Amino acid sequence: MKISIDNERKLIEEMLIAYGVKQNEANIVAEVITDGDLKGFSTHGLGRFPQYIKSIQAGTIKLEGDYEIEKETAATAMINGNHKFGHYVTVKAMDLAVKKASECGVGIVGIHDSNHYGIAGFYADLASVQDMIGIVISNTEPAMAPFGGKKALLGTNPITISIPTDDIHNYICVDMATSITARGKLLESKRKGEPIPEGMALDKDGKPTTDPEAGLEGSILPFGGFKGYALAFMFELLAGPLVSAACGEEVQGTATPDVMCTKGDLLIVINPEHFAGSMQFKFYVDQFVREIREENGVIPGDREIENMNITMENGVPVDEALHQQLTEMAQEKGLDIQSYFEE
Ligand SMILES: NC(=O)c1ccc[n+]([C@@H]2O[C@H](COP(=O)([O-])OP(=O)(O)OC[C@H]3O[C@@H](n4cnc5c(N)ncnc54)[C@H](O)[C@@H]3O)[C@@H](O)[C@H]2O)c1
Repeated sequence: MKISIDNERKLIEEMLIAYGVKQNEANIVAEVITDGDLKGFSTHGLGRFPQYIKSIQAGTIKLEGDYEIEKETAATAMINGNHKFGHYVTVKAMDLAVKKASECGVGIVGIHDSNHYGIAGFYADLASVQDMIGIVISNTEPAMAPFGGKKALLGTNPITISIPTDDIHNYICVDMATSITARGKLLESKRKGEPIPEGMALDKDGKPTTDPEAGLEGSILPFGGFKGYALAFMFELLAGPLVSAACGEEVQGTATPDVMCTKGDLLIVINPEHFAGSMQFKFYVDQFVREIREENGVIPGDREIENMNITMENGVPVDEALHQQLTEMAQEKGLDIQSYFEE
């Protein structure tokens, strides 16, 4: 079974509205989730949507009220997400960071008390399409053991960097967890009843496992050994205590919908105009990309472009378990969503 990107967007909006989400927030959530599926991050696409519905039902995503700017200078801001949808809060925070960077050269915004926001790259791209560099760092509830240890104390702590370009054929963005794979990969494999590849996770006794459930109870390995762990360690602090969010074991609610989310996000926007100059920066960016391509090298972002073309053509695969979950959640609100899917 599959669903087109257009239908996926409509389905998400219709369900969110039925569950009481405001239209402008529903639009943003649908936009980010479909962007995840378009770019091939199925771990953070429609498959993650039921988690958000459960969070609404549990009251850990708040439908009323709004985010607040708690502190502000010309270049910085601290945002209290007030447990609104993470997608909505992060888009608004990124808009603010871009505005500050357009005036000051740099805009740095910290967020606490928000919620899971899907793919980090969506927000970094909001800066790069405006000729600025977007960087987003977050922490998540524990999934990774410290290097040498067994117990998960660090999150999968993603980082994304999106770079502006003048070449319409280029999309330059890295968007990655600091764990060898996102936790979503294990959740997805568990839902589909499939094993995970070897070398991804350890069980709670620190032994290698291909069982996603055992990996979720144990830990996911860092990418790149100590180096991935060291980055995750730093992001735990930069996206945690620095922005009045939790850190380590205190981080909750990014994958557990019935618990209030305590993670944090750090958004950094750099305006090249205040450094080398935008034209000059993009000239060297595109020259570098050409040099890499001449060596048949892959550019960070190439895979996303390739996946976008494939997804636009073929639609998004929907497995039986996900279809069932979505159908039941829609039925609770009296919605019939079957016409959105194709065999
Ligand atoms: N919201 C959260 O709390 C949270 C936490 C962790 C991860 N995530 C998201 O999960 C998603 C998946 O993360 P991941 O680390 O599992 O992704 P991944 O390992 O599939 O890819 C990471 C990056 O490397 C690139 N890449 C990987 N292999 C490539 C290849 N062979 N050729 C070209 N490019 C290649 C990808 O395009 C991507 O930019 C990301 O969107 C991330 O933001 C979110």
